[in-house]
Amino acid sequence: MYKTSEIIAEYGINESRLKEYIIQQNIPLVNEEEISKKYFQTILSFIEKTEDRIEKRLKKAEATFKYNSENNKVSIYQDDAISFLKKLPSNSVDIIATDPAYSGMNDKLQLGKGRIVGKYADKGKENGKWFGEFEDSEENYNEFLSECKRVLKKSTGHIYIMFDSYSLLSLGNVVRNHFDVKNLITWDKVNIGMGHYFRRRHEYVIFATNGNTRKIRNRKFPDVWRFKRIHSSKYPTQKPVEVFQAMIHASSEEGFTVCDPFLGSASSAIASIKNNCNFIGCDISGKSIEMSSSRIFEYLNSGKDNLQTKSMAIDDKIFWE
Ligand SMILES: C[S@@+](CC[C@H](N)C(=O)[O-])C[C@H]1O[C@@H](n2cnc3c(N)ncnc32)[C@H](O)[C@@H]1O
Repeated sequence: MYKTSEIIAEYGINESRLKEYIIQQNIPLVNEEEISKKYFQTILSFIEKTEDRIEKRLKKAEATFKYNSENNKVSIYQDDAISFLKKLPSNSVDIIATDPAYSGMNDKLQLGKGRIVGKYADKGKENGKWFGEFEDSEENYNEFLSECKRVLKKSTGHIYIMFDSYSLLSLGNVVRNHFDVKNLITWDKVNIGMGHYFRRRHEYVIFATNGNTRKIRNRKFPDVWRFKRIHSSKYPTQKPVEVFQAMIHASSEEGFTVCDPFLGSASSAIASIKNNCNFIGCDISGKSIEMSSSRIFEYLNSGKDNLQTKSMAIDDKIFWE
């Protein structure tokens, strides 16, 4: 049995809207406010289609940047990823596409002067890193993923999580505890990067569903994506918009809500806007929020991307077009 008061609290649905639906559908109430499992599924499908639940829930949390255009609603927050996800109602987001700042790379790579998220030698010192890292213990990662699972819609939810080789080895399997992993995608960055042995030229993306069988847009998507890395980016670890576009274009329909709780420079937000999706995201760093706000604002107003001025596709070819 499910109590209507609990459904309202967890899913963020308006009380009178829910009651109206219950009457409309002739859903029987036990003890005046309890709903049986059988009818709960019908209610869940209705809730998933109800808009503005996220906005209502986030009303108290002040958006650092908010924009409503005809095609898109975009809002971003300065917050910790887990704390932000906890504020969202259950079953409210269609796609999570994200690129966490794993701490393991700096810990496991004894690179001496290597620059992963700052100078290795300066680790721990004030301003020693480019940005804060997300503690990638299994416990913390499980908590993060269980929040992702809760906010992702059951019937449509798709999730894309980026990994470097190190985090993939230590955390990739943890994703299976929460989601149905469907693909391990390789992002081929075309040009070689750092590395004391074989020099790194790729990263990974795990694609998984929230237990549903919803397919991607079409069958034109391979599991190796070739997009050049961004050299001398203004935001460290800035990813090409095309990488996020591949994820979002594959999984979205117009009006879907995309969430990225490790926003960085907002490449995921730009990709969402390009796909006529709504976007919510957060980052712990003020610098990220500052750069993302101006990037999104400029893109929505002028169509110009001030952090990625050219295509990163090889010969401008994008495989899904
Ligand atoms: C790898 S970067 C994301 C880059 C982004 N995909 C882009 O294209 O610009 C990871 C981001 O996670 C942020 N971050 C670190 N710890 C965080 C936390 N606990 N919660 C939210 N964001 C966090 C960092 O500030 C950084 O901007």
